[in-house]
Amino acid sequence: MISESPSLVAWSLSEPEPTGIESFLERYAAHVTFYGSGKAALYDGLAGFVEPDSNVLLPAYLPDAVAEPFHELGLEPRYYRLQSDLSPDLADVERRLDDETAAAVSVDYFGFPQPGFDSFSALVSEYDCYLIDDNAHAPLSVADGMLLGTRGDLGVTSLWKLLPIPDGAILYCNDETVAERFEPSSIAGVRDQLGTTDCRFALKSFVAELLDRNATLRQSVDELVAGRGPSVPDPRARYESGKTQMSKLSAYVIEDADPTAIRDARRENYRTWLAILEDCPDVDACYDSLPAGICPQVVPVRANDPQRFLADLEDCGVGAHTWPRLSETVVADPGYEVTKRLAREIVVLPVHQHIEPSSIESVGARLRR
Ligand SMILES: Cc1ncc(COP(=O)(O)O)c(C=O)c1O
Repeated sequence: MISESPSLVAWSLSEPEPTGIESFLERYAAHVTFYGSGKAALYDGLAGFVEPDSNVLLPAYLPDAVAEPFHELGLEPRYYRLQSDLSPDLADVERRLDDETAAAVSVDYFGFPQPGFDSFSALVSEYDCYLIDDNAHAPLSVADGMLLGTRGDLGVTSLWKLLPIPDGAILYCNDETVAERFEPSSIAGVRDQLGTTDCRFALKSFVAELLDRNATLRQSVDELVAGRGPSVPDPRARYESGKTQMSKLSAYVIEDADPTAIRDARRENYRTWLAILEDCPDVDACYDSLPAGICPQVVPVRANDPQRFLADLEDCGVGAHTWPRLSETVVADPGYEVTKRLAREIVVLPVHQHIEPSSIESVGARLRR
C-alpha cells in the first residue's frame, strides 16, 4: 500500500534528527510567520495592503478554495490562462491587468518553479501591484539558490503538505517595506496548547497506519464505508476551517523534522517513478528532470486515459488522484480549455518520505505486466 501522505506514526518511530525545518527556511527567508493554512496566510498577508473593489490575478489552474481569502478581502478574482507546460499565457495576463489590480499570484506547481516566472514578474512589475509567490506545494524546494515562495513581495507555503501534521503554513514577507508595514492578526502564530484537532489528527493517523499494515482489516473497513466516503467540503468551509493559528502538534513535528533527509527521500522516490514511467506509453511525466534543490510534492503525470490509469494504480494499492477541483468560474468558461484539460489529465503520484523506493519498484513491476 502506497498512501498519499506521510504518516505521523512512521515519523514518531524514526530516529530524531533535531535539525528542524524552521532553521532551514530561515536560511533563505528573513520574515517568516506561521498560520494554520496557506489560505489564512494569503488573507493575513494582504489584509493591510489592499483596498476592497480592486482585483487579483490568479492562475486558472488552481483549487477553487484558494480564491476565498481574496473574496473576503473584497477583491475580484481574475483567472488568467495557462499554457499546457503550466506557464502563464502572458497575452492573457496582460489583458486582465489594469490600474485596479492589487496583486498577481504565480504558483510553483508540485514543488517546481512556475515556468515563465521571470517574464510574468517583469510584466506584473509594470503595474503598481503586489506579486505573490504561491509555493503551497513544496516548502523545501530551492531553485537557483532561492527558496520557492520567497521570490515575490509576499509568498506562502503549506507545511501540512510536506509533513504528517494537522495543519501549518507560512507567510513570507520578502520585500523589506512590506515586512515593516505587515501587522499580523490574531490568526498568526502557533497555539499555546494542544487541542482537540491535534488529538483527532493523531488518532486518525494511528488508525490509518493500522489499516495500511493490515490488508484484511482495511478491506472490511472499506466495505463498511463503501458509498459513504467523505465528500469534499465547499470552498468557503475549507477556507474557514483553516483560518486559525498553527497547532502546537504541528510546531512540535516541524521542529523535529530533518529537511535534508525528507528532500533526499522524496527525490529518490521521484526518480524511481520516472524510471517506471518510461515503460508506460500512455503516461508522461510533467517534469522529466529533477533539478538540484527541488523537493517534489508529488510526481505529476499526464495520462491519456486518466481514469484507467487511476484504476490500475488503485489495483496496485497506490493512493493517487487528479488535481485540482477548479473554480466554477473556470469550469463554466470555454476560454479555459487548456486548464480544464490539465485538470482532467494530470494525475499526481505520491513520493513522500515514508514510502520505500522498493514499494514503488514493485508497483512498476505490476504496471508493466
Ligand atoms: C496552489 C495552492 N495555493 C494555495 C493553497 C492553499 O493552501 P492551504 O490548503 O494550506 O490553505 C493550495 C492548497 O491546495 C494550493 O494548491
